[in-house]
Amino acid sequence: MANYLLIPLLLLTLSALSPAMAAADGSNILQQQCASCHNLTGPAATKLASLWQRKGPDLFYAGNKYNQTWVEVWLQQPGRIRPTGMFYMDHIKAGPKRDMVDQSTLSEHMKLDAADARAVAKALATMKANSALIKDEKHDPDMAPGPLGEMMFDKIYGCMACHQIEPGYGGITGPEIYTAGKRLTPEFMLSYIRSPQAWDPKIWMPNKHVPDTNRQKLVNYIVELSKENFNE
Ligand code: HEC
Ligand code: HEC
Repeated sequence: MANYLLIPLLLLTLSALSPAMAAADGSNILQQQCASCHNLTGPAATKLASLWQRKGPDLFYAGNKYNQTWVEVWLQQPGRIRPTGMFYMDHIKAGPKRDMVDQSTLSEHMKLDAADARAVAKALATMKANSALIKDEKHDPDMAPGPLGEMMFDKIYGCMACHQIEPGYGGITGPEIYTAGKRLTPEFMLSYIRSPQAWDPKIWMPNKHVPDTNRQKLVNYIVELSKENFNE
């Protein structure tokens, strides 16, 4: 190719890489700033060792898991979701009576400004791996859990051994459940409770073989919990 053709081409390439343009590009931010901790391409860990070494939750199926608006807001003001981080053994120390969370080993999540958070949330919403797992899940918001909701979560299925149903109340080796209704799509929750290992083959959440009606009620119970305001 003659030089007079190459030079404009080079200029075009350079301008495409300029920081001003990259700032609005969600996929670019994900690659540059997030890929060191988050799995953006899949597959999920297939060995315990790699699960335990994970530095952040898998995001390659983010578009099927999270509510986009929640992602956008959280990235600007990230709060803790997993009381003991990604792997509880790394963040628990012996206390006088029982084990305690070693707060000094947990770090704060990076923050994004509004424009970047919006662009990243939009890019994450397009990442739809595992669609086959949710395509047949139909959420029925009218299947009211009533008092049975908490009973199932606590006693019948023992979910509370790992999940908090309000700040400071419940187990700490899984994500807090009282905000899950805001964070997650109901279809994802239905599918994850059906089979946690279908999403994450080595995760320590057990498959409790919850029948369909009770899965709907558990999800509606979780959605109800998220409507309470725990910040007051
Ligand atoms: C140093 C490692 C690290 C980097 C870098 C990082 N994250 Fe995270 N991220 C984490 C950890 C750890 C959590 C879990 C926080 C918790 O549970 O309290 C998390 C949680 C999240 C969540 C909530 C998802 C969920 O299921 O809890 C989103 C969304 C997210 N990160 C997006 C991003 C984006 C976008 C970037 C880049 C701009 C990024 N993260 C950079 C470690 C990281
Ligand atoms: C032995 C501990 C344990 C038990 C018992 C358990 N879970 Fe979990 N649960 C986990 C872990 C670990 C995760 C995934 C953690 C992650 O993504 O970092 C999880 C994830 C979830 C999620 C997705 C949450 C999120 O924020 O991404 C839901 C919903 C959920 N569990 C509901 C339940 C229900 C309902 C039960 C009872 C039928 C239950 N869990 C029992 C440990 C447990």
